[in-house]
Amino acid sequence: MEKEFQNIYDEIVDLMENAISESAHPYRTFSLASVDEKSPKVRTVVLRDFSKKNNYFEFHSDIRSPKLAELKNNNNFSALFYSSQTKVQIRFNGKTKVFYDCSETKKRWNQVTPSSKRCYMGPYSPSESLSEYHPNIPESVQFKNPSDKESLIGYKNFVIVRCYFDKVDYLKLKYSGHFRCNFMLSDSKIDAEWIAP
Ligand SMILES: Cc1cc2nc3c(=O)[nH]c(=O)nc-3n(C[C@H](O)[C@H](O)[C@H](O)COP(=O)(O)O)c2cc1C
Repeated sequence: MEKEFQNIYDEIVDLMENAISESAHPYRTFSLASVDEKSPKVRTVVLRDFSKKNNYFEFHSDIRSPKLAELKNNNNFSALFYSSQTKVQIRFNGKTKVFYDCSETKKRWNQVTPSSKRCYMGPYSPSESLSEYHPNIPESVQFKNPSDKESLIGYKNFVIVRCYFDKVDYLKLKYSGHFRCNFMLSDSKIDAEWIAP
């Protein structure tokens, strides 16, 4: 890859890696789009891991949520990150792989905070219709953290969604002219090209 493209790719990697370690980073949350039958569906999720070596990032979710059914039918995703500080938008495209009740999820579940574990313990499936308001947290842990044993009902719903990307669209806004380029990733090389901003 030419030096100019390499510098931009290094900047993307830095942004993603920093977002993993800094909870207030603008890229800590991102918009994840899947395909529902023929329509796009988009929602906010939290960035949980990033691998420069293996070209993926991850988020956590509940296996009962509609996005998991959508990704099972069609594992193509698009993910969008934007920072108003740096004015950099990054769009990733690729395919997802879901991890459920395996060594990866067991290890990760131990790193999930007790407070976040409550999100997977809801009696209702995320996005399910309710006849009246319900916080979708068991009453016993609505105002306290669950014990390890209590949170096991949450583990049964916990998944890691790994997003393997093969295309990255970078756009940086600048008064004197925006910068925009595409990176196409294959097994061991990355091709880059300028595209019209
Ligand atoms: C700031 C923020 C962070 C969120 N993080 C996640 C997340 O990491 N995983 C997740 O499944 N849902 C997360 N959600 C909820 C989703 O945006 C969405 O409402 C929910 O997962 C149901 O989506 P679905 O019906 O498309 O499956 C988050 C919402 C917000 C506002």
